[in-house]
Amino acid sequence: MINSLVDSYFCSLFFRTFRLKSKVAIITGGARGIGAATAKLFALNGAEVIIADILDDLGPALAASIGGCYIHCDVTKESDVESAVNLALTRKGRLDIMFNNAGVSGANGSITTADMDAIKDIMAVNICGIIHGIKHAAKAMIKCGKGGSIICTSSSAAIMGGLASHGYTLTKEAMLGLARSTACELGVHGIRVNCISPHGVPSEMLVSGYRKILRNAKIGLKDVDKIISESGSLLPGRSGTMEDIAQAAIFLASDDAGYITGHNLVVDGGFTSAYSTLSFIYQ
Ligand SMILES: NC(=O)c1ccc[n+]([C@@H]2O[C@H](COP(=O)([O-])OP(=O)(O)OC[C@H]3O[C@@H](n4cnc5c(N)ncnc54)[C@H](O)[C@@H]3O)[C@@H](O)[C@H]2O)c1
Repeated sequence: MINSLVDSYFCSLFFRTFRLKSKVAIITGGARGIGAATAKLFALNGAEVIIADILDDLGPALAASIGGCYIHCDVTKESDVESAVNLALTRKGRLDIMFNNAGVSGANGSITTADMDAIKDIMAVNICGIIHGIKHAAKAMIKCGKGGSIICTSSSAAIMGGLASHGYTLTKEAMLGLARSTACELGVHGIRVNCISPHGVPSEMLVSGYRKILRNAKIGLKDVDKIISESGSLLPGRSGTMEDIAQAAIFLASDDAGYITGHNLVVDGGFTSAYSTLSFIYQ
């Protein structure tokens, strides 16, 4: 039994396909959550990963553990994003994948009392950060002349109202438009631009969001997982995981998705596709 398990382990290692072999990837917001899970999966599949984040306590250790590197990068600052792209070019001579994943959730509340400074703050990360990422990645990819894959993390909130704050919703929707228009411009260079729209992935961001909404500081990952798996997907007992989103990202990053651009890959357990309250009619 043990021998066959060991055999199958070595077989899987031996026959493992490295879907991103020799590709160079930057992941913004890669120090934790969805970005960190993606960094690990990309590295496991042969990519050289640069983690670009503001979490200097988490990023360097994660980067070291996957044989990648870390750069302090606040995506609201264009020069920081440009430096991250330049790091890829100076260290590895190319950039193949840009995962614009850094994001913040912003404050909830009525539109009638919306704080414009708070709206500008969320736009600085979720919109300007994405523009910086697409702009500098595209420049580098055009220069290298080998095409590339740019992926942006949008949200189910871009598809259905009522899932997040007004500020967050507008930024994630805007991203879809930008991805489509840049896909249109950059296709001629072999550069694909796509979005992923996750829903209900228990992460620091989602848990702190639930704590605020439910006014309960004790809510943890397990509680959020339970809420989503009971009422936040068409797959009972299942919430989204960071690995689910990482799998979507590796697909879009890899040559498997070579004919896919201008697309929004929704990873939401079907939540935004159907009204499930009446699902008993099918029983
Ligand atoms: N968790 C979900 O259910 C969910 C659903 C839809 C969309 N998303 C999106 O997924 C992405 C990742 O979020 P997550 O759930 O892993 O949460 P998270 O809070 O764990 O991760 C966000 C990451 O972005 C980084 N970041 C924030 N501001 C930054 C800045 N100015 N510059 C650089 N990095 C910055 C953070 O340090 C962190 O590492 C976000 O864009 C989020 O909006 C998440």
